[in-house]
Amino acid sequence: MNFIEIAKKRYSVRNYSSKKVEKEKLDKILQAAHVAPTAANLQPVHLIAVESKEGLEKISKGANIYNAPLAIIVCADHNKAWVRPFDQKQTGDIDAAILTDHMMLEATELGLGTVWVCYFQPDVIRKEFDLPDNLEPINILVIGYGNEEAADTERHDHLRIPLTDLVSYEKL
Ligand SMILES: Cc1cc2nc3c(=O)[nH]c(=O)nc-3n(C[C@H](O)[C@H](O)[C@H](O)COP(=O)(O)O)c2cc1C
Repeated sequence: MNFIEIAKKRYSVRNYSSKKVEKEKLDKILQAAHVAPTAANLQPVHLIAVESKEGLEKISKGANIYNAPLAIIVCADHNKAWVRPFDQKQTGDIDAAILTDHMMLEATELGLGTVWVCYFQPDVIRKEFDLPDNLEPINILVIGYGNEEAADTERHDHLRIPLTDLVSYEKL
């Protein structure tokens, strides 16, 4: 599959089989995060891979992970993130999103389903995973084998705004 085929194939899976994600596949997904770019290469991201029964129960107290066998909590490290000097904008959330996207697309290539979860209670996740103050949980990437019919790869024609609305070109 080339890049656009993988990007079109990916969809949000909200129904998972109980089949575990193989260690080799998890390793490849984590490798994809490892090579992601971050602002000034400061790498202000920490990943917590959760696959034990106890860990999945803990995460489920603060997030719906759709009974998936694996979830990766993507945290921004506010002690390490780059800050733009002009307006003090910190890029930790952006860096966390890039790692999440790399992992999501790698998982798709490996035949796995994913859903990106932001609807979670950060205070609960913080408490359950004993996160220090500098680590903020930004995204939870839910991963597993989908237990449903795959979404149509051509659905974007009607499920996304037209490209002409998405883009404007500079006026010359
Ligand atoms: C930043 C972000 C946060 C999201 N949060 C959630 C979430 O908390 N729960 C959920 O079920 N889906 C969540 N999604 C999935 C989106 O709803 C989904 O990607 C979007 O509707 C497009 O559908 P598709 O992924 O099937 O193409 C999130 C996606 C993104 C990019």
